[in-house]
Amino acid sequence: MSKVDLRSKKTWGALALIAAIAGAMASAFAWTAGWLGSRTISQALVPETPTPFPPGFRRAHGKGMCFTGNFVPEGAARSLSTARLFSQTETRVVGRFSIGTGNPYAADNSTKTLSMALMFSTDDKQQWRMAMNNEPYFATRDPEGFLALRKVTAPDAATGKPDPQRLAAFLKAYPEAEKYLKWAAHKPAPGSFAGATFYSINAFYLVDAHGNRQAVRWMMRPHDPFISLSEAQRQTADRNAMFEGVSQRLAQKPLYWDFVLQLAQPGDPVDDPSQPWPNDRKQIVAGTLEVTQVEAQAEGPCRDVNFDPSTVPAGVEVSADPVLNARSAAYSHSFSRREREIGYGKATEAVQMQEVK
Ligand code: HEM
Repeated sequence: MSKVDLRSKKTWGALALIAAIAGAMASAFAWTAGWLGSRTISQALVPETPTPFPPGFRRAHGKGMCFTGNFVPEGAARSLSTARLFSQTETRVVGRFSIGTGNPYAADNSTKTLSMALMFSTDDKQQWRMAMNNEPYFATRDPEGFLALRKVTAPDAATGKPDPQRLAAFLKAYPEAEKYLKWAAHKPAPGSFAGATFYSINAFYLVDAHGNRQAVRWMMRPHDPFISLSEAQRQTADRNAMFEGVSQRLAQKPLYWDFVLQLAQPGDPVDDPSQPWPNDRKQIVAGTLEVTQVEAQAEGPCRDVNFDPSTVPAGVEVSADPVLNARSAAYSHSFSRREREIGYGKATEAVQMQEVK
């Protein structure tokens, strides 16, 4: 990246834009980033005190809805992996749609990030869990960078705005973030879950019957068309439009996504989620996901699931991507807390208090 010149007007404009986007993005994780520390991720998983979070909810992507359906494979992926998902005729799926904010009561138009989580349970008693966003890559190469991004985009106490000097220093240390932040600034506002593409972002390995490993990333590619909202449509949308929309759409007929694998070539960065692989890398349709029913998350089958993406079956292995590694620790932390709160009745108390108000 070229050197950042803080005297240039252009640079200040770019930094202001980046700060605005980065602030919005980082707020999605405000409650979780405190668990990522300056030394190692596992050492940093300390309780946040006091907690500003409503009990019983996920500490990120708190607003969501459960769904169920099934997956039907196509033959192509069987030669790459022994995972039963690719050979079983049909596999039951429990999943969750969510939006990318921590606040479970947020308006749907408060973020452009939509998400899909999946848990496949196959007849060999194995599970494959995924948690994907409608973004093709991550802002930084590691979780420390992500934490740093959150810090530098926080408003400065004196000015109420992010400090451009600190932001410039951050971009020097994490130049890859500029690509993501510029992309995020122009990201179209999605109008539905049904037409969104969801990406694994992190890379994994598929392992075949001979032990050969192929690095892959994947996406869930919708059969419904992508709908983009204008800024005016987005601003005036109902606060629950996205979740109501998916229920209404499902009342007509099931929703479908193709499970598309992207195969890395030697030399492609496997452990860096901020670096997408070239578009010409081979893609394989591994099967089709059918979503048939949605249910409120309070009582639905996704509530007590930790969609930790490092839960993979035989025939799939995690990569050494440090963000993937950090996700596992953070999800576990969030899961333990919310289940404990539910177990002690704290979540019910909080809902009752909301109703009284
Ligand atoms: C360092 C990076 C990250 C951190 C610290 C983080 C943290 C978290 C936490 C704490 C949860 C709540 C887990 C629970 O209570 O079950 C969560 C949920 C989620 N995250 Fe992340 N995350 C990170 C990166 C990512 C990435 C790269 C993606 C997309 C590929 C992603 C997608 C999701 C989704 C879809 C959910 C909702 C899962 C569900 O429905 O249960 N996250 N994240």
